[in-house]
Amino acid sequence: MADWDWLDADLRRLREEGLWRDVRTIKSLPDGWCEVAGRRVRNLSSNDYLNFAHDPRVVAAAKEALDDVGVGAGASALVSGRSPWHERLESTISDFEGTEAAVLFPSGYAANVGTVSALVSDHDVVFCDRLNHASLVDGCRMSGARLRVYRHDRLEILERELRKSSGDCRRWIVTDAVFSMDGDVAPLVELCDLAERFDARVIVDEAHGTGVFGANGRGVCEHLGVDDRVAVRIGTLSKAVGTLGGFVACSNPVREWLWHSARTQVFSTALPPAVCAAAEKSFELIRGEPERRAHLQSLSVDFRQRMAAWLSTDGDGPIVPIRVGRPEETLTMSAELLKAGFLVGAIRPPTVPHGSSRLRICMTAGCDQSEVERLSQLLASMTEG
Ligand SMILES: Cc1ncc(COP(=O)(O)O)c(C=O)c1O
Repeated sequence: MADWDWLDADLRRLREEGLWRDVRTIKSLPDGWCEVAGRRVRNLSSNDYLNFAHDPRVVAAAKEALDDVGVGAGASALVSGRSPWHERLESTISDFEGTEAAVLFPSGYAANVGTVSALVSDHDVVFCDRLNHASLVDGCRMSGARLRVYRHDRLEILERELRKSSGDCRRWIVTDAVFSMDGDVAPLVELCDLAERFDARVIVDEAHGTGVFGANGRGVCEHLGVDDRVAVRIGTLSKAVGTLGGFVACSNPVREWLWHSARTQVFSTALPPAVCAAAEKSFELIRGEPERRAHLQSLSVDFRQRMAAWLSTDGDGPIVPIRVGRPEETLTMSAELLKAGFLVGAIRPPTVPHGSSRLRICMTAGCDQSEVERLSQLLASMTEG
């Protein structure tokens, strides 16, 4: 028998510090609801912002593919080929994104790690925002490039570092479009300006931007008008698209290169075809039903205005973090909200820095104005009390 005693002290410490993580079993329901321990509650912890995961048209598209070719893809696409749904989804995405090509990945995490580590080489310098998602950070580390961490609220430091780095190496700036735990948006115009001045390439992760921001739902790059100034846009199919998987919207040469050298794509089984069929339908709905996006946006703006005194970042997106501080207190507030009918994530270290535990509220298009009002009153009474 293996001896795991050495883990006991570490696990005890996690409990004592309020950092223990229990995984709760929930049943997802249509329109942004879920069932927790037999009770129907509003799910404000999900990234399925537009509630496509349960949309009957998305579900029907998945069923059609399931009935046709079964569940699993069987192998990596390079080994055993792939289904027409994979091909169709890639062309749907490149069309949606207005790029020459697109490449699918098994997850958004895999898309970030695989793309950054394949494109950035160990002769390069990579500038990575300190609040970037772990997958971008891992991709930067795996690339072997010199890593410089910057903060998007202090771009003068990035500018200084870019100036120092100039020489014959290649430079990359890697950023989330929406910071997943703070909910603010990256200053993409300023980052593209700097990139152009210092001959750097910009890679943007639109995980929380796709379907939510931009006149056509392409994300923050579209919203800020920098689509064409960014070298590569990465997205995930697991959030507003309501399914699973990641994608890269790019040029043909980048596509060819990723097919040959993005390890998380080459050495991983392709997405289930039914997931591709569902995602293709979601993109059609993102395009065809902009009113869902507009409703989500107006709820998010209203909620942010009501909670203005408790917010530490600006923005108008659906991720709204309410800073609490200590992990134990954050857990207590999350439990009280659940009693009142709202499932809200308590985000604690190591996901966020020590002392900055928070409630992370993800607004959902299924909500209505009266729920936003009730939630903000509840939060205000809890934070004042
Ligand atoms: C900013 C960001 N990028 C990438 C990912 C990873 O995406 P996925 O869950 O599809 O693997 C996440 C997911 O939490 C994220 O928040």
